[in-house]
Amino acid sequence: MEIIHVSAECYPVAKAGGLGDVVGALPKYQVSMGHNAKVVMPMYRTKFLYQNEWVVDFKGHSNLGERWFDFTVIKEKHNELGFDLYLIDINGLLDREKVYGYDDDTERFTAFQIAVVNWLSHWQHKPDVVHCHDHHTGLIPFMMKYCYDYNKLADIPTVVTIHNAQYQGWMGWDKSIYIPRWDSWKRGMLEWAGSINPLASAVKNAWKVTTVSWSYMEELRYNSNGLEALFEYEKGKCIGILNGIDADVWDPATDKYIDNHFSVEDVEEGKLANKKLLCEQFGLDSSKPLFIFIGRLVGEKAADILPDTIMSSMYNFQGQANFLILGSGEPHVEWQLSQLTHAYPGAYNAVIGYNEKLSHLMYSGADFLLMPSRVEPCGLNQMYAMQYGTVPVVRSTGGLKDTVVDMGDFQGWGIRFNHASVGDLTHSIWRGIDLYNNNPTHLEWMRKRMMSIDNSWENAVQQYINVYSSLK
Ligand code: ADP
Ligand code: GLC
Repeated sequence: MEIIHVSAECYPVAKAGGLGDVVGALPKYQVSMGHNAKVVMPMYRTKFLYQNEWVVDFKGHSNLGERWFDFTVIKEKHNELGFDLYLIDINGLLDREKVYGYDDDTERFTAFQIAVVNWLSHWQHKPDVVHCHDHHTGLIPFMMKYCYDYNKLADIPTVVTIHNAQYQGWMGWDKSIYIPRWDSWKRGMLEWAGSINPLASAVKNAWKVTTVSWSYMEELRYNSNGLEALFEYEKGKCIGILNGIDADVWDPATDKYIDNHFSVEDVEEGKLANKKLLCEQFGLDSSKPLFIFIGRLVGEKAADILPDTIMSSMYNFQGQANFLILGSGEPHVEWQLSQLTHAYPGAYNAVIGYNEKLSHLMYSGADFLLMPSRVEPCGLNQMYAMQYGTVPVVRSTGGLKDTVVDMGDFQGWGIRFNHASVGDLTHSIWRGIDLYNNNPTHLEWMRKRMMSIDNSWENAVQQYINVYSSLK
């Protein structure tokens, strides 16, 4: 099958979070199972761009309202990632250092989507499916059906995967002039609650909608930032497919970012060697259990409860645990987490920023990973942690609920709690400290148990292929 993935992120070209990981892995595994998967994404100014060779595939032009723009589609020459990778260069709009966070993101990603459909409309043949990811690509199914210049693409099946419905890309109707000549009778297919809503439009227009875990699919019907009724109405075409993890990148036996490799047989020795390195680097005590948090410091991840939880744990458990935080996000949370380094030297440290290499060392050296997320569509961190024998401490929501079983349940390997509150998280930390101090044999059994769980992509790839096949 020929599958075109359209995304704002793809690891290692550009990654801001789990979307990048998924779009860097899923097509690779689709290719390894005999399919022809391609990725098209914006051309940002990232390291990957300058370190690889490119050929021009297509040159075109279009307009965003009254603004004309030229675009170039370039293709990576040597198939470095295991699939065909295309970047769309739109001078002055996409060629920036960061993926998101600019005032003109609406214009940037709308122009990107117009360029994608324009490029596809020049193909001599039709691919089997166009697979869009998140709201940055959410207008594509509409454009393929209802824009006069592109409706020759209307019979190509479209699938949209929702990685996160919190972000929907709303824009006012004044921006409707950006969308290439469209059938105004179809206004309702763009709209939700009085605005143009690219994510809602994707749900309405795509042939099939998937999301990245089964529980999140259910949750969308009662907690999706205003789209609940839409998901209830469209539930017939929605399906949950749990993400996998990329074993080429996330395997403690081969991980290129860590020095002390290990597998299920020597997990205790391997983890301890990595923990010592980490503790030395951050002035922590490697004889105590190490709790880490890695991620975006935002409300969705409940990062705001971390400072109080750390203070409460330090007070109640008298320095029996170490904490190390890696993340960036809301300035006041960044500030609070940085300030705590002065209060608890030797037991707490924080790195504010994004550091791929350090994240690998942390997953490999830590004992526990904290994920108190308020919303977690899938969550990859807990799956990486499990692969590295690090006990996930998670709130029972979305993909966390689907991938972690509490140690109190039969053969469970994690710690689960119900509320994103300081009380619940502190209590869970206590359960971790108690396990570490008083039941190391069970902890070792849990590490081995979680490392032997199969979270590979093969299973998910087959489910995606089944979805595409059902649309033929
Ligand atoms: P989300 O996409 O919602 O942020 P996921 O759990 O799906 O959450 O994926 C997060 C990905 O981003 C993981 O690969 C995680 O290791 C990585 N990550 C998040 N924050 C950082 C950071 N500050 N430094 C390094 N990696 C990070
Ligand atoms: C989103 C979600 C996260 C998920 C990731 C990959 O960023 O927040 O839970 O793991 O996408 O699907």
